[in-house]
Amino acid sequence: MVCLGIESSCDETSAALVESGCLMRQVTATQEDIHALFGGVVPELASREHYRLLRPLLRRLFESSGQAGPRLQDVDTIAVARGPGLLGTLLVGMGFAKGLALGLDASLVGVNHLHAHLTAVGLEQKVQYPALGLLVSGGHTHLYMMHSALEVELLGRTLDDAAGEVFDKTAKMLNLPYPGGRHIDTLARGGEVNTALFPRPYLDNQNLDFSFSGLKTAVSLYLEKHPNLRLRTMGIPDGAAEDEHSQELRDVCASFNFAVADTLRVKTERALKSQRVKSLIVAGGAAANTMIRVTAEAIGRKHGLFVYLPSLSLCTDNAAMIAYLGEMLHIAGFSHGYDLDAIPRGRKIPNDYKASRLDNTTAIR
Ligand code: KG4
Ligand code: ZN
Repeated sequence: MVCLGIESSCDETSAALVESGCLMRQVTATQEDIHALFGGVVPELASREHYRLLRPLLRRLFESSGQAGPRLQDVDTIAVARGPGLLGTLLVGMGFAKGLALGLDASLVGVNHLHAHLTAVGLEQKVQYPALGLLVSGGHTHLYMMHSALEVELLGRTLDDAAGEVFDKTAKMLNLPYPGGRHIDTLARGGEVNTALFPRPYLDNQNLDFSFSGLKTAVSLYLEKHPNLRLRTMGIPDGAAEDEHSQELRDVCASFNFAVADTLRVKTERALKSQRVKSLIVAGGAAANTMIRVTAEAIGRKHGLFVYLPSLSLCTDNAAMIAYLGEMLHIAGFSHGYDLDAIPRGRKIPNDYKASRLDNTTAIR
């Protein structure tokens, strides 16, 4: 059984082949350079890039899979990210996937991009369920109860800016290029945390939701008072251009990073009070963050849980996770028709599989 995954929900164009739960091949093209100067993804440019890249990437995927690897005609399932994401970019990937499925007479399955992030680590390690899932991506900061890989229940969600988004917006304020999370992470590693510098937002409540907009405002007010921290021209400080403010910049990044990581810690530990789990999965682009990873490991030690952190290439958007979950859904009897719809960010992904086994407990509730 060979599953081809297609990912185009934001600014990575990616295709991957998964066979029996193992990643065979993956090719990914990132559009970071195109969007860097704009400080965020420009949807129109992103759609055009996916449209331009999907065909050559698919060709490369099968060329690189070599004589012994699966051929296009061996693919029996096409899995495609159907949302949440940018509507235009999703439609490009889905049109491509539907055409392939039709041409190959393969089955089609639309994959919830967030669910795929949460299960991606299964490509690398056998996961012990039930698990608490913490998803920290560019658009979402969500907590899930994962009864199994396919039975996932939402416990808490982003109310405004997601963790990744606030990393990117802080980076933009500092004149670091998009996506700035990685640059803040690097700077923070050389800095000293001042735990009192920034607030840990939206903790004074009993719920499991997240709101990072207050932290963004606090950073903005701080930088108004310390304009010298903003880089004069957009770029990545390389250490060669050390100046009197560079240590201060690192300290601010470390303190900001702490405010995010510790907010995630508090809500995760709050969730652990009511959920009986064996493990903690941290997933999504910002799960690549050093301080968030260290914090997750510490939570695991304290609560006696297995902690699953995908390798860095599986944290950011990729088609391997789409193919992996797509294959599991296909094996469980779930598929979609050609009326499969793209779901933009902000809308709930419906359980609209054309399967006999629709019991409402499968996929994200
Ligand atoms: O999951 P992802 O690739 O795309 C979405 O589904 O949104 O996440 C992208 C986000 C961006 O906001 C990016 O800045 C953030 O992940 N990110 C990081 C790091 N690497 C990527 N944030 C903090 N530290 C990092 N090392
Ligand atoms: Zn993502």
